[in-house]
Amino acid sequence: MAEPDSTIDRLEDIPPADRPAHIAIIMDGNGRWATSRDLPRIEGHRRGVNTVRMISETCAELGVEAVTLYCLSSENWKRPQPELDFLMHLLEQYLVEERRTIMDQGLRLKVIGRRDRLPPGVIEEMDRTLEMSAANPGTQLVLAIDYGGRDEITRAARDLAIDVAAGKISADSIDEATFASRLSTAGLPEIDLMIRTGGDMRVSNFLLWQLSYAELFVTETCWPDFSRADFLSSIRQFKTRQRRFGGLNVNE
Ligand code: IPE
Ligand code: IPE
Ligand code: MG
Repeated sequence: MAEPDSTIDRLEDIPPADRPAHIAIIMDGNGRWATSRDLPRIEGHRRGVNTVRMISETCAELGVEAVTLYCLSSENWKRPQPELDFLMHLLEQYLVEERRTIMDQGLRLKVIGRRDRLPPGVIEEMDRTLEMSAANPGTQLVLAIDYGGRDEITRAARDLAIDVAAGKISADSIDEATFASRLSTAGLPEIDLMIRTGGDMRVSNFLLWQLSYAELFVTETCWPDFSRADFLSSIRQFKTRQRRFGGLNVNE
């Protein structure tokens, strides 16, 4: 796949109608970024926060409705405890230190994933930022933390089964819209573009239901190096894609 043209960082040549409504990003390659520089892996995570800030600011400028960032997967708990401790520390720090940027950009924070395995300090700062930004009119900044697509789908199925057993809904009434309404992304636009940095061609349990017709963009660039120009270039490439959604092109 062609690497993005990292020389252009203007927004003007991306007309509003060509901008994705919802972008999802697998922010990968922090560890490799660090180890290739003889730095500890955590340094890559630390540097990655700058890219998160750039992405949220650029999405606000572009008027993207929602951007979902994969911060921690339900499988990432398999990592060594010191790395996990650092990630939790970084997350808490982000939620405090980026509050100003979130408010200045008019971003509305949303968090998806399990809450019950997160440290109380993270939950506390998260709830504070969620509450503070709840009425903001801008881009929804969705953080996927302890998130797993299979976990989310399993919970939705369980919820529906409970409601059927209780006689609240009939099994026959369950359709795709009902199912989607039980997912944590209910109410968000469909994902138009999914970006993965770090070069791996897989979805790693991210948004399994929601990615059905997303355009995929994978770049070898590691997350800490992913620039605003790279990001805009992925959006430019997105607008050249022919999206058929199973149908035919309009001129065929
Ligand atoms: C992504 O970077 C961040 C998290 C999963 C938290 P990695 O830590 O997976 O970096 P690599 O893939 O090992 O380079
Ligand atoms: C996906 O990256 C999770 C996040 C970016 C948070 P991983 O590094 O965990 O994915 P795998 O293990 O390479 O599939
Ligand atoms: Mg990785």
